[in-house]
Amino acid sequence: MTVIQGIDIDLSAPRFWSRPWAERERAYKLLRDHETLAFFDEPEPLPSTGAVKGAGYYAVVRHADVLEVSRRPGVFCSGEGATSVTDMPPDLNEFYGSLINMDDPRHARLRRIVSQAFTPRMLQRILDQVERTAVEILDGIDQSCVELVGDIAAPFPLLVILDIMGVPRSERGMVLQAANTILSGGDPDFLPPGKDFGTAILEAGIGLSALMQPIAAARRREPTDDLVSALIHAEVEGEAITDQEVVSFFILLLVAGSETTRTAIAHGVWAFAEHPDQRTIWVHDFDALAPAAVDEIVRWSSPVISMRRTVTQEVTLGATELHAGDKVLLLYGAANRDESVFDSAQRFDVRRQPNPHVGFGGPGPHFCLGAHLARREVTVMFRELFSRYPDLAVSAAPSQLQSSFINGIKRLPVRLGG
Ligand code: HEM
Repeated sequence: MTVIQGIDIDLSAPRFWSRPWAERERAYKLLRDHETLAFFDEPEPLPSTGAVKGAGYYAVVRHADVLEVSRRPGVFCSGEGATSVTDMPPDLNEFYGSLINMDDPRHARLRRIVSQAFTPRMLQRILDQVERTAVEILDGIDQSCVELVGDIAAPFPLLVILDIMGVPRSERGMVLQAANTILSGGDPDFLPPGKDFGTAILEAGIGLSALMQPIAAARRREPTDDLVSALIHAEVEGEAITDQEVVSFFILLLVAGSETTRTAIAHGVWAFAEHPDQRTIWVHDFDALAPAAVDEIVRWSSPVISMRRTVTQEVTLGATELHAGDKVLLLYGAANRDESVFDSAQRFDVRRQPNPHVGFGGPGPHFCLGAHLARREVTVMFRELFSRYPDLAVSAAPSQLQSSFINGIKRLPVRLGG
């Protein structure tokens, strides 16, 4: 627990992440205004995972500090222990982390192979898929009773990824449940009955792996035009991706690419309900404002709460001296409301320029691989929602996911109107 100006802030306590969003913002501000980086004890590790409790971590909350850490992967690495607060056993780290938990040269090698699979033709195919999936989902909903997250925001990016990877849609329920479990942060609403979080995560990963292995093997024998085939057959300087790397990359894409975009869309709908003037401004000039509006939605919602780095040598960050082995937690939402960088940081402003937010991570080797796709998904979904439902309204307050990793909304009932 850390007490700043008499207020108890404990980023490791699950209850901190279930407090109202406004309280989280106040805590972030206190942490930003504090001269040195605040230090926190680690939460208890998840049972069944074999993870061990470490010495604690520093919270990095100022925008400039998040940039500095992201830009210096040699000093603040990703491959030691994990990018979550608690160190994970190496096999689990590898299995769930893929790119995100690697340093160079392994990271650069895998990222090069993956990048090679995203040919212009593949990218175009993916973008077309986004359009088709948005239309398909909105055409198919029961308009009389809509819960935005479950009916629209969750299935949309998930179906896009399944189609890109060539996974049969019949697996959608199982994959959604697994992705929800992995990123649930232990929120009981997303855990299978009678399972502790650690066991549930492990079982979800095993299920996804069992789904993906035969698909990878089949594409190795007989390639199709999906991303798995492209990944398996991509080669950089004679090196190719292994089947296990494909499986881990798939798990990363699923969790990194679906829960995040879902969260951005859900927060966006809620933000426009709370700030109808911003919706009017965007609708009036949709195409021209889309890039700025979408980035403001990502800044505002900051779907990924945090990523951890491990310090590799003595270094000073702001006014804090750090030593090899120290853990630092980058809190993107806190950096995205830093008043020293963003004018009226607490204002939702679809015309915000410049908007150097770190919602997709800071500049560096781990910057979000799916940022282009995510921006397209959010743009297409809002274009469809605004044009089909000019009277779209939120009909009950959002219910907040209790997670220290994803700034999620579990449910958001809406009236489509019209
Ligand atoms: C609004 C949606 C999204 C947000 C807010 C988001 C955010 C992030 C963040 C914060 C990181 C970590 C950056 C770092 O550690 O420096 C990241 C990494 C990553 N994201 Fe995204 N993401 C989104 C959508 C997507 C999508 C749609 C995909 C792909 C389908 C994707 C794939 C990845 C991958 C593969 C990485 C790891 C990159 C690496 O370590 O080299 N993300 N994302």
